[in-house]
Amino acid sequence: MAKHDRHFVNVFSAVLGILIAIALLLIGVSRLVDSGPKGARDTGDPLMQASAHERIRPFGQVAVAGADNVALAIQQAAVPVAGALAAAPDAAQPADGKSVYESACIACHGSGIAGAPRIGDQAGWAPRIAQGAATLERHAIDGFQGQAGLMPAKGGRPDLSDEAVRKAVEHMVAQSR
Ligand code: HEC
Repeated sequence: MAKHDRHFVNVFSAVLGILIAIALLLIGVSRLVDSGPKGARDTGDPLMQASAHERIRPFGQVAVAGADNVALAIQQAAVPVAGALAAAPDAAQPADGKSVYESACIACHGSGIAGAPRIGDQAGWAPRIAQGAATLERHAIDGFQGQAGLMPAKGGRPDLSDEAVRKAVEHMVAQSR
């Protein structure tokens, strides 16, 4: 072999050796990285699968005639959106005071937002209850500007019947004395 050729073979072997070493190193590293949560990914852990399904759930769903479409029923938004409400004055009224409260009043009265007396706050409700049920109901139905803030008529839900609001007041008062 010529001197040049020998030199070439030497350098070539060295480079090849280094590349092989790097390849082995990468294989080792990838094993290491991969070994961690292996079970979680492909053992079919129901919790992981459920949360994955929840995340990749389609935005829209199709109601099929004749099938059970109960799960597709439109949920009432917790915080009423003006406009959408007035559009549905004949929507089914919530049956009892608790559900009226939870759909229309809890946004403010649940945590005492904007000066609303918090449900269950006996000290806050005592002087209001002392005004008598008729006054409370009138304030809830017609709206009321007090010292603490503005109580919007029917809590901003004109679609609610007076009777439904009355029941919600009863529920809130019963929970707060
Ligand atoms: C946007 C917030 C908000 C919503 C929603 C809301 N309220 Fe109120 N409510 C208030 C505030 C604020 C007050 C306190 C006003 C004051 O005394 O200054 C109040 C006061 C009241 C009072 C006491 C009135 C009085 O004379 O002391 C009643 C009863 C009441 N709300 C019932 C309801 C009912 C029933 C609903 C649901 C149908 C509801 N509210 C939804 C803000 C709200």
